[in-house]
Amino acid sequence: MDLKWFRVPKDIVFGKGTLEYLSTLKGKKAILVTGGRSMKRFGFLDQAKAYLEKAGMEVTIFDGVEPNPSVETVEKGAKAMQDFEPDWIVAIGGGSALDAAKIMWAFYEYPELKFEDIIEPSSMPTLRKKAKFVAIPSTSGTASEITAFSVITDTKAHIKYPIVSYEITPDVAILDPELPAKMPPHITANTGMDVLAHAIEAWVSTTASNYTDALALRAIQLVFEHLPIAVSNGEDLDAREAMHDASTLAGMAFTNASLGLVHSLAHKIGGEFGVTHGLANAILMPYIIQYNRKATDKVAELEKILGINDLAAAVKELNKKVNVPLRFKDVTEVEMDEKKFEEVLERMSKNAFDDPCTLTNPRQSSAEDVAKIYKAAFYGEDINW
Ligand SMILES: [Fe+2]
Repeated sequence: MDLKWFRVPKDIVFGKGTLEYLSTLKGKKAILVTGGRSMKRFGFLDQAKAYLEKAGMEVTIFDGVEPNPSVETVEKGAKAMQDFEPDWIVAIGGGSALDAAKIMWAFYEYPELKFEDIIEPSSMPTLRKKAKFVAIPSTSGTASEITAFSVITDTKAHIKYPIVSYEITPDVAILDPELPAKMPPHITANTGMDVLAHAIEAWVSTTASNYTDALALRAIQLVFEHLPIAVSNGEDLDAREAMHDASTLAGMAFTNASLGLVHSLAHKIGGEFGVTHGLANAILMPYIIQYNRKATDKVAELEKILGINDLAAAVKELNKKVNVPLRFKDVTEVEMDEKKFEEVLERMSKNAFDDPCTLTNPRQSSAEDVAKIYKAAFYGEDINW
């Protein structure tokens, strides 16, 4: 039996001012989980607390989840939950806060659970015996509010663990565009191009379905139309809302269809050079579209639907509009030294080829192909092989 399925949160609440939805939840206690200071500084944390209190709940806050959240932070948060015993976990902030809260939730429900027990895909025990989970993203990019994924870092071993289980798909996602409206232009651009990468990779994925195609396509259209506006005028709430929706639509597509080589290569070049995830995706995308189109008709199909001649060229054009460089050599946010690039290329290519995202890429590749793609994207050379 070849079982296929499609799973997303039960409730997706979207639109301006929808943070207020929190005041309609039914329960006794809620814990808010957040990252650094921005949610507090912009007043969203206090607003969320007030709405939950309006719902008659006792509320506590666990803050300080760091970027690339660690096993220790997750254990600390789980302990706070075990002491407080909430029936709602409300994660508000960037992808890190949401990712960390998902795993805190697992350790809250199962205090005896060890990190090693949940690393294998789908090894997570059944959740929701103690609490349900609300995710409120402040960026339009990772789509952690929708996905079955969480990435936790073992800081001692320097290893990032992707945890995959439909159990950690949130129950409720609240998409209020007021939150991402605070993102500065370069973060809007990078996270927005990450959304496009999610959508395009889900569209060409070997496990794409009619369900994921519909979502991916709409996300692609929204990004092309609204990202340049969201970058140039961050206060434009209509553009912010469109990008927030695009992020979630793309998330629904890729959590069910998975990703491809763009993410495999972005993960590993990010690990070697510290280049931002969305920026790495943005640069890699045109080259991998050129590489993949030899193996799939879906690139041409997408061009037909969008009414364009060349998807790779259109993505490059979009990169230019949102001030993203077209090759790694021109990146300025971190040092992308040519000598170091050549030194790490072989190892990085092997690691990228071994990344789980490679499995669903439409063109069968090899570590040698990956190295050639990295070189093309580093020096800005078109791929026509
Ligand atoms: Fe991504």
